[in-house]
Amino acid sequence: MNADLVVVGSGLFGLTVAERAANELGLKVAIIDRRHHIGGNAYSEKEERTGIEVHRYGAHLFHTSNERVWDYVNRFTDFTNYVHKVYTRHNGEVFPMPINLGTINQFFRSAHGPAEAKALIQEQAGELAGTDPQNLNDKGIQLIGRPLYEAFIKHYTAKQWQTSPEELPASIITRLPVRYTYDNRYFNDKYEGLPVDGYTAWLERMAEQPNIEVHLNTDFFDDSHEYSKANVVGQVPVVYTGALDRYFDYAEGDLSWRTIDLEEEVLEMEDFQGCSVMNYPDADVPFTRIHEFRHFHPERDYTKDATVIMREFSRFANKGDEPYYPVNTSVDREKLLKYRDLAAGESSVLFGGRLGTYKYLDMHMAIGAALSMVDNKIAPHFTGGNKIQ
Ligand code: FDA
Repeated sequence: MNADLVVVGSGLFGLTVAERAANELGLKVAIIDRRHHIGGNAYSEKEERTGIEVHRYGAHLFHTSNERVWDYVNRFTDFTNYVHKVYTRHNGEVFPMPINLGTINQFFRSAHGPAEAKALIQEQAGELAGTDPQNLNDKGIQLIGRPLYEAFIKHYTAKQWQTSPEELPASIITRLPVRYTYDNRYFNDKYEGLPVDGYTAWLERMAEQPNIEVHLNTDFFDDSHEYSKANVVGQVPVVYTGALDRYFDYAEGDLSWRTIDLEEEVLEMEDFQGCSVMNYPDADVPFTRIHEFRHFHPERDYTKDATVIMREFSRFANKGDEPYYPVNTSVDREKLLKYRDLAAGESSVLFGGRLGTYKYLDMHMAIGAALSMVDNKIAPHFTGGNKIQ
């Protein structure tokens, strides 16, 4: 094997580690991925008929306030000035999200200023003041009052979790943001945008280095190739970004995840909904939201004859489904502690990324964590002879 470091998984965590190890530390790196493409869940491609860029694993919006991460990603791509905004369709009416002064005034047919709106919401939230909510439903009412909670949060959450909020733990939400201005920017970060020539061009540039070899369609647990777990662990340092429980053959049981089903449709019209994301918070609609991809790139000269939409359905993941969001029950957390102990015993393997740490990470968080791993673990190992773990 001609590699100093093997990276399992070519998502943003693995790519960042590989790129830094190759370019900063001069190492030869082999990246393997079981999928047929690089980029993990951030991968996108052109829809065949329309040429519209579609995010294959759900919509990905880049945003960060981390200067180091922003400088780093700008080495590989420029970003458009796209600003993410979300709308929600409730009872046949469309409201801006997250809940802001515009949402409140439209919902209550009022013209409140910030102070009046705040007083109104506080009064409504007062219904459960002084109580200690034990389920998500009561917590939601206590945070923003029953009317807004029931319209915009209750059924949306029930659809996301396939569980009634009365049966979900209050701990799932600590806050529900309400803005007492008309600002309906979805993210609060300093930097935001979409890669000018698409995610895949960005991700491929990260891997286009003479010291990096990429092996696709290559599963770490398939022993028929030289980069399998059996062939590399103990021979060469490994950064593993696949599922933590899978690495240990589920010895402590399965960690639970939510997944999403994405239903894509090409419609013979220029514009379906006038925005990139429309939430559907009502109980009688089975999906949670619809993405319309043309709106992510208004600067592009896309066809006017057709548009691509994707309906998103949320559910618990079974074995074989793509794991997307950690469910993180108390049982999961107990298992996670046991898996972390096992991971600490793997002296030549570092566990990272969303799947390898059982943590939801936005892209900028995955990149930031990977840069820290290179600084704190990989560089000291290769330049100072420290143990990798
Ligand atoms: P990621 O999952 O991307 O990559 C892991 C890779 O490991 C995969 O390519 C997988 O095939 C590979 N792998 C797993 N097991 C393997 C094995 N046994 N052998 C070989 N390869 C293996 N973030 C954000 O900033 N803005 C956003 O809008 C969104 N939107 C979003 C929507 C949805 C639905 C999800 C699930 C996630 C987001 N994200 C996001 C988060 C973003 O996708 C996340 O930050 C990155 O996936 C993290 O990159 P990782 O490299 O950790 O994992």
